[in-house]
Amino acid sequence: MSLPPGFLDELRTRTSLSQVVGRKVMWDQRKSNQGKGDMWAPCPFHQEKTASFHVDDRQGFYYCFGCHAKGDAISFVRETENVGFMEAIDILAREAGMQVPARDPKAQEKADHRTELADVMEQAVQFYRLQLKTGAASDARDYLARRGLSDATQARFDIGFAPDSRQVLWSHLTGKGVAPELIIDAGLAARPDDGGVPYDRFRGRIVFPIRNPRGRCIALGGRSMAADARAKYLNSPETELFDKGRSLYNHGPAREAAGKGQPLIVAEGYMDVIALVDAGFGATVAPLGTAITEDQLRLMWRIHPEPVIALDGDTAGLRAAMRVIDLALPMLEAGQSLRFAIMPEGQDPDDLVRAQGSAAMQKLVDQALPMVQLLWRRETEGKVFDSPERKAALDKTLRAALQKIADPSIRNHYGEAIKQLRWQLFRTGNSPSGQPRAAFRAGRALTAHPMPSTKSSYLAAATASGAEEHLREAVILAALIVNPGIITQFESALEALDLTSAEHRTLRAAILRHAEADDPHASIKADAGAETLEKLMSLSHVQISPAIRNPGKTEVAAMCVAQELAKLAARRGVEREILDAMQEMGDIADEGITWRLTQAAEARNRAERSQTEDKTQYETGANGARISREERTALNQLLDQINFAKGARRSKE
Ligand code: UTP
Ligand code: MN
Repeated sequence: MSLPPGFLDELRTRTSLSQVVGRKVMWDQRKSNQGKGDMWAPCPFHQEKTASFHVDDRQGFYYCFGCHAKGDAISFVRETENVGFMEAIDILAREAGMQVPARDPKAQEKADHRTELADVMEQAVQFYRLQLKTGAASDARDYLARRGLSDATQARFDIGFAPDSRQVLWSHLTGKGVAPELIIDAGLAARPDDGGVPYDRFRGRIVFPIRNPRGRCIALGGRSMAADARAKYLNSPETELFDKGRSLYNHGPAREAAGKGQPLIVAEGYMDVIALVDAGFGATVAPLGTAITEDQLRLMWRIHPEPVIALDGDTAGLRAAMRVIDLALPMLEAGQSLRFAIMPEGQDPDDLVRAQGSAAMQKLVDQALPMVQLLWRRETEGKVFDSPERKAALDKTLRAALQKIADPSIRNHYGEAIKQLRWQLFRTGNSPSGQPRAAFRAGRALTAHPMPSTKSSYLAAATASGAEEHLREAVILAALIVNPGIITQFESALEALDLTSAEHRTLRAAILRHAEADDPHASIKADAGAETLEKLMSLSHVQISPAIRNPGKTEVAAMCVAQELAKLAARRGVEREILDAMQEMGDIADEGITWRLTQAAEARNRAERSQTEDKTQYETGANGARISREERTALNQLLDQINFAKGARRSKE
């Protein structure tokens, strides 16, 4: 098959080599300069510990100064995924959101329930698009025009109109032979309690399709045009396709634009996204009618290391920002943060760009505040610190905020930044670089260092639990590969999962990519490599998993995957608590440590106890029993030592 002229050039310009390579390597953060597209990592083509593999993101070429491997995105995918030229193109084109010239139309037709639902959604989108052109929609067209949405913009976002009638969509879809249950399952219509004929959910509203990153319609948002409507926006309910807290409006196009170097902006609503995209900020997303969730933050960080949260410049906007800060603090990692662009009082981004143009928005994005400054403002603005008690109270709240940061190095940097700000505020006469004057040790000035034994047992615990996390991930991945029918059901959970190894990330990418192939198993194998797959399947945990032993029993497999996901989540909670506690021990004595560790450990144990089936898996399996018991013992020891250390300190006091 031949490619249309210009296709490869377009593909190369749309593809970010550093993103493609980034899935296979760990960048050397010190050596790399992301802003310049100048990235370094240990070479994926030969064994080494230093970073002699260089990616020039702007030129789209890589070169290894060690083994002299070189090439572009296409050759990189060919080499690392072990695929042919056409398949490499296929993979890259799909990621870049480009239409690959058609080959096997049948592969597309394979219908599971979700595909059917997505088809129904798409039919609804097209129907509502057409309705917008009819005479009955003249008010809607006027409304959109008043709000500055050109025809091109309406087309780009597939904006439509749901007429104010109880059954237009229902009649249209059923008339075309769509099964009634599908229309209801897609959330497009609802059955009345009295069991009568179902009625359309969206009536008399402008309709905004919400698409997943692959461009499939998963939900609709509907805006009422009446100023006095009971709900200004009405969105699709959660369905098999739509997981509100794990979806972002404009996800796919934003990811693509961010890949080309645009800043990722997070706005509050549909209209803001549309206005900002129109104004040239292609990488804009919004949550869907709820406050930003942890999962959404994770998705954003996978698009861009430093999303800019655009806030309404009113108290509600600031309050929302504070919630985001509290959510983000524990999740911060090196090269992964947030900034905040504050809109003028009473304006949202849509108002701003329409009133003052994109330059005004650009300015606010350029001036976006780092998170630490907003944190500082929250605690200090409008307050007076004219007494030692008030200063101590400030120190205490700041310290509490800092303690939420899991990453010790980031926490230190935050501490430094706050120290500077604090010095500027109080002007105590000491140089900011001088002694910290117990600034963050309000109350007790006691410093206790962790005992060496505590440290090593923590490390033991962390390693054992790292191994266990890896095994749980392996079971999840293997279960999905053996039971591809359930992949789509876990698609978003899988996307949001923090995986522990590059191999697992490769497998995940392959699983997501081939979820709907004719023979997903074979395609995943070809994509991820037979060797990687064999390694996965040979793990004893994988082999004894009920999901693997009973291929075809999709319910068992789905249960198994769901449980493993829950356990991973619980376990990662514990990990963070332990890190926190270790950090605090080096800092100050805190009654809360033991309590929090106990709570976290209990949450994990609850998740672990949740299923007898799993017990068999982890306690009769020779390896499993050892690992989980060792882990538990290590944690108990750690708890004991912390208690001991605290006791010792207390007797000294
Ligand atoms: P806003 O009230 O800020 O609306 O809600 P907006 O996006 O600026 O919309 P316009 O400009 O008035 O048309 C922000 C987001 O909150 C959700 C929607 O997702 C909206 O885009 N929302 C708001 C609802 O889900 N329901 C509502 O009743 C209101
Ligand atoms: Mn608005």
